Formats: sequence, structure tokens, C-alpha cells
Amino acid sequence: MKPSSSRIKNIASTGGREVLKIGPDVHYMGTGTIQFDTFEHIHQAGIRAIEADYVGYTDNVGLLSLREAIAEKLANENHVHYDPDEILVTSGSSEILSAIPHAFMEPGDEAIMFDPHYIGHFSAIVELASGIPIILPTNGDNNWQPDLEMVEAAVTPRTKLLFMVSPSNPVGSALSEESVRGLCEIAIKHDLYVIADELYERIMFDGKKVISPASLPGMRERTFTINGFSKAYGMTGWRVGYMGAPRELLQPVHRARLYVGICAPSISQYAALAALTGPQEPLAAMLSELDRRRHYLCSHLSAIEGIHAPLQDGTFYSFVDVREFMREKGDKVRKVLLSEVEGYEIPDSIAQQFTDFMIVRGRVYLSPGSSFGTAGEGWFRVSGASYMDHLQKGIERIEEAAASIL
Ligand SMILES: Cc1ncc(COP(=O)(O)O)c(C=O)c1O
Repeated sequence: MKPSSSRIKNIASTGGREVLKIGPDVHYMGTGTIQFDTFEHIHQAGIRAIEADYVGYTDNVGLLSLREAIAEKLANENHVHYDPDEILVTSGSSEILSAIPHAFMEPGDEAIMFDPHYIGHFSAIVELASGIPIILPTNGDNNWQPDLEMVEAAVTPRTKLLFMVSPSNPVGSALSEESVRGLCEIAIKHDLYVIADELYERIMFDGKKVISPASLPGMRERTFTINGFSKAYGMTGWRVGYMGAPRELLQPVHRARLYVGICAPSISQYAALAALTGPQEPLAAMLSELDRRRHYLCSHLSAIEGIHAPLQDGTFYSFVDVREFMREKGDKVRKVLLSEVEGYEIPDSIAQQFTDFMIVRGRVYLSPGSSFGTAGEGWFRVSGASYMDHLQKGIERIEEAAASIL
């Protein structure tokens, strides 16, 4: 048989390490779906859409009523003004994100992004479009803010796209005002397009807010404003995302995704419309519950010697520093792994060693920071999206595993 394309072969795949048999008894602490009970009106809107037989294709760019509601949301909350025909609705924001490089990059064009980043997603979509990801490290000791001089130095005549993800999965930090303004200045100076991924924009704590790049002078015409319903309303499986962008930017993106997705699921679009136009009180309740969960996670994790879990600006993820823990107890961790897992080979990454140890000793799954890029080395990501009892059980297991090698 002839081989699959070299582009696909070179794309990193995500997934567990087979030698560790991550079975059903392993407590999963990585979920990306918010577990929360009070979005009944959204479910009912989906049910009503089925009963009314709204099951055909919709307008390829999305239901007009939904695009109108999205345009209103972006104007009111993000201070970016789009006409409804400058809004594109797709099956999750992933569809738009992967269409943009296809629509705007020639082979060999470059896209700047920051490390750590969402499971290699951004580099993968650029590579699939035969572009070159330029991945710049950020640093947890600097709250994961980009080094603007490094960004400026990385721009070449081939640079076309700049990713701005705020707040960020996996690290949870939002771009500071200084970072947003600095990156926008660079984008304008070098005529770059900006992919503003604002998927977690509503999950910000302590009254903090993200700044939408497209709301700044000179930015609307070069920015793809990406958002969706997955995180804001805990609707990952409904698959509805959207983009606001001027027509000249939207049309090529629409053409690049039309043959993949045709239109977003009709029933889900009615549910999304209910999410935007229905009662918003559950959002405040959800945010305060997520805040309670992250305080719980971070305070318990930070109480373990050598582990530091800073409270972040937003998202439901905590990115946790285990460098000191591994400096002090790395030898014991590796000894456990070698003696308890047949055929185990010590990986170079201490984050991976730590999370492997947690699977083996704690039967708990945490995502190694190194799987989000080299700058995530020495950290792990834990999700606070699950119900509290699930988090409590996970924390107990982590505490017991850590205590077992004191
Ligand atoms: C930063 C970021 N962007 C985009 C996505 C894609 O989400 P969806 O396709 O569900 O809209 C995710 C999913 O976790 C994400 O973390």
C-alpha cells in the first residue's frame, strides 16, 4: 500500500503512553468539558429543535439569527463591531482555526506562536497547511507573557500569522495589556494577521478581563476573532464555534472549511442561540464554582512539599510547577517507575516522569506540561472542570502518592 502523506506522518499525535496501561481505574484529571448542572434551557432548545424537525443543513455560514446574536455579543462585551455577514459559525472553533492557515499561508510561510500551547494544535494546523510554526518559549516565572523583543526578532519576510491565545490553555494566564498592545504593534508594523483565540475569554477570575486585539486601532482589519460555545457554556460536544472577521478575511476562510464541514450542526446552532439569548445568570454561578474549584486544587497541591500551584487569571486549568519536587525526590520517583512498570524506560522529561509516577502510584492522570511544548517541562496541567467530588478524589490520590515516597 502507498504511504499516507508526509505532512500527516510528521504531525505529532496526542495520546497516552502505552506502556502505562491507563485503564478505567485511573482517575482522569484532564477533562476539557465543564461539568455544571444549570444550563437546562440550552438542552431544551436543542430538544425543541429536534421536535420541530430543524434537522436540515443551515446556511453554510450559520443561522442568521445566531450570527446576529454573536455580532451583538462581540459588540457589547468585546467592543468589536461586525455585521452578521462578518460572522462565520462552524463545528467548533477547531474547524476555523485549521482553515485559516489553509486560506492564508503559502508553503514555507511562517506563523508565530507561543510555547506552551494547546497540545500542539496550533503547530499541527500550520504544518498541515505546509507552513512553518515558529514556536517561541514563554516562562512561568514571568506569568507566561511573551518576550516582545524575541517576537520582533522572530519576524521574517515570510511571517504571516501571529497567534494570540488569551487566556491560554494550558497555562491559564491571560495576555497582559502590555503584551496585547506590544504584539498588536508588531502585527501592524510587519503587516501580520492575528489569530485571536478567545475561547476561554469568559472564564476569567477576580474581575479580570481580556482585551480583544480587534478592538484596538488598526487591528480589526487584520484579526480573526475566534470564540465558541465549548468553554463559555460547557458545550464541547455540541460543536459550535465562530469567527468574526472582515469579509476579505472571512471569505477565504469560509472557502477553506466549506468542503470539510458544510455547516455547523443545525440542532446545536439552535442550542447555541438559546445560550446567547437566554438567561446569563448561570454563567456567573458557573464562574464562581470554577473559582471555588481552582482555589481548592491550588491550595491542596501547593501544600505538598516541592509543588507550587499558582492561581491563574482564567480558564479552568491549573498549571503546576513540580521542578522542586523532582529535584528533591526525582530519584525516588524514577526508582518506583523502574521497579513497578515492566519495560519502563525513563523519559527525558521530568514532567513526564512525575505524571507517569502519578499514574502508577496514585492511579491518577495529570497532563505533563512537556506535552504542550518544551517550555512546559517541569510542570503539569490539571483540570478543574470536573465536579468537586471528582477533584477531591483526585487530590487524595495525588497526596497519597506524594506521601508514599517521603
Ligand atoms: C485554546 C483552545 N482553542 C480552541 C479549542 C477548540 O475548541 P472547540 O473546537 O471545541 O471550539 C480549544 C479546545 O480545548 C482550546 O483549548
